[in-house]
Amino acid sequence: MTKHTADWYAAPPARWPQPVLKGHTIPGYRYTSKAFADQEWEKMWTKTWLLLGREDEIPEPGDYQMEEIGPESIIMARQHDGSIKAFYNVCQHRGARLVFNEAGSVDAFTCPYHGWRWEIDGRLTYAQDAEDFPEGDPCKNLVLEEVRCETFAGFIFVNMDPDCVGLKDYLGPVWDDWAPYEIHTWKRYLALTARLPVNWKVVLDNFNESYHLPTVHPQAESSVEENYRWTQFDMSEEGHNRMWMRAGAPSHILETKGGVTILDGLAQQLRQWDLDPADFAGREYETREALQRQMRKLGPERGYAYFDNLRDHQLTDVYHYFLFPNFAVSVWADGFHFLRARPHATDPEQCVFDNWWYAPAPEGVTTPVMTAGGIVERDAEVEHEVFDFGEKSLGVPIDQDMAVTPGQQKGFRSRGYTGVYLPRQEHRIRRYHEVLDEYIEGKRPAPRLAHQVAAE
Ligand code: FES
Ligand SMILES: [Fe+2]
Repeated sequence: MTKHTADWYAAPPARWPQPVLKGHTIPGYRYTSKAFADQEWEKMWTKTWLLLGREDEIPEPGDYQMEEIGPESIIMARQHDGSIKAFYNVCQHRGARLVFNEAGSVDAFTCPYHGWRWEIDGRLTYAQDAEDFPEGDPCKNLVLEEVRCETFAGFIFVNMDPDCVGLKDYLGPVWDDWAPYEIHTWKRYLALTARLPVNWKVVLDNFNESYHLPTVHPQAESSVEENYRWTQFDMSEEGHNRMWMRAGAPSHILETKGGVTILDGLAQQLRQWDLDPADFAGREYETREALQRQMRKLGPERGYAYFDNLRDHQLTDVYHYFLFPNFAVSVWADGFHFLRARPHATDPEQCVFDNWWYAPAPEGVTTPVMTAGGIVERDAEVEHEVFDFGEKSLGVPIDQDMAVTPGQQKGFRSRGYTGVYLPRQEHRIRRYHEVLDEYIEGKRPAPRLAHQVAAE
């Protein structure tokens, strides 16, 4: 690990470029119209990088994951040379799906219909009665239809557009922001997937604003500075955005609620790093810097070697990112709250919502992991649960978020909904809708620049 100077550690995050907003009113048909959803599919979903799989869940050659997005199903398979390839989950004989389970391990993909054998690299090596094909032996003429695939932070991203820019260019400033956390080494500790009766954008709109925190999450007692006045919002040219909230000290909101105190969550965090909350009586706002110093000192010896790569604010504070088009995440020094909505295959008024959590699993660390769905043992094997909205809890804060969404979806069908009226702190919503329209209008993806083509 590189050790940096005190100034480097103390430096605040650099601002991203702030693209100018056009003032989208976000009309209701965007959430209800099949015609609009079809345009989204043709012009946007099939042309952007999509976060789909996880590298460490397919460690051996022949291990695969299958994920569905809209009408598509994508297979991601580990190759003999250690690389990963992605394919449409469709047999080139007559279109049958090759796999139906979300993960597995195979020598080859054998089609359940007529038994054609597709190797994990996409070659066809067996077709029944191969001599009977007037156009020639299918094994000589066919391969599985491949999808562009790259990895970052341990996640497998795919892009259905063969002419797309590379993933690093697509992610823009997110790439450098995330690299120091070594998220590729983190493990999944929560995997709840719910089928929701709302358009996918209803979910992402919610995760693009924190204006709802005081009303939807009244319990948020927080050691996170939720108020927009102390929050930094950044938007990138690529269509992503970032919100930086200070944490590790009492929220200024407490001043309006009868006094600054160290509440349970913060007290627990202090104790976790061998600090005594009682020592901070009368100087409660000093906890953030004290925690940073303590985490810097104790982190590496407790197995968090990558803390040496993080800036001070990254140790205590919470960053919330939105990756265009459908992924949001809160990134903590030791937690990654994965929030993703995938469109339904045919119905614009349904989506699939993933509420997952990743955390580091350093050797020797046995403290349980605090996830959005409760406390999980560090060595737990986490099962992926898939259910209908309301059937099971997604964890309190996310239940609260999702509880408001079906009502909003109904509102979008009303003649009385005339468009949004947004405070600045919700401008990230407007921005991503404007980026979405740029795809639909054919302005994105921009053609690759000469240096990008040359670098590939
Ligand atoms: S559809 Fe796959 S072998 Fe016939
Ligand atoms: Fe929320």
